[in-house]
Amino acid sequence: MAEQRDERDRKGITRRGFLQIVGAGAVASMAVTGADGKPATEAIEPTEMTKVGLLINGRRHRLLIEPRWSLLFVLRERLGLTGTKVSCERGECGACTVLINGQPRYACMTLALEAEGKEITTLEGLMKGEELGPVQQAFLEHDALQCGYCTPGQIMAAEGLLRSNPNPSLEEIRLGVSGNLCRCGAYEHIFRAVRRAAELRKG
Ligand code: FES
Ligand code: FES
Repeated sequence: MAEQRDERDRKGITRRGFLQIVGAGAVASMAVTGADGKPATEAIEPTEMTKVGLLINGRRHRLLIEPRWSLLFVLRERLGLTGTKVSCERGECGACTVLINGQPRYACMTLALEAEGKEITTLEGLMKGEELGPVQQAFLEHDALQCGYCTPGQIMAAEGLLRSNPNPSLEEIRLGVSGNLCRCGAYEHIFRAVRRAAELRKG
């Protein structure tokens, strides 16, 4: 018993205490006892929240968030914009693609705080009232999906491509959606849909 207490005193924190702190998440630093017995660093509250203003699909949102929250988490779990899909959450699949200032970005790899002051567009923002936007319409016409899970990300990548290059070649289309994986292998249909979307956008 005394041995255990000595061990804890030497390390300044017990194993159980450490696990409790890690389990709380979002702990930026722990209070560690220095040689003089005083805390070496200040503890940061795990639930520290900060105000953020986000411009999403032309609408301003003001909310309280934790600094560690990704844009993906905020879109889906705080704002109910579930058109943006969650899959790998480590920048590998593209399912979570949104536009930030017109450029395709992975929402799972972007902190919500980083997106402040920028224009964010999600799948919902491509709708024209109750009607599908041109890229969405083209994906429907060309049956550019099987399970459909990658489709929102593919559509956002295509939208970003067509905003910067309204008349892309096949090679440019391949490159434009190369950050978006389709496990069903619907690539040929996706490429055709992007060509069609380019035509529809011209009207
Ligand atoms: S969920 Fe973001 S890249 Fe896969
Ligand atoms: S349609 Fe299934 S992953 Fe692309």
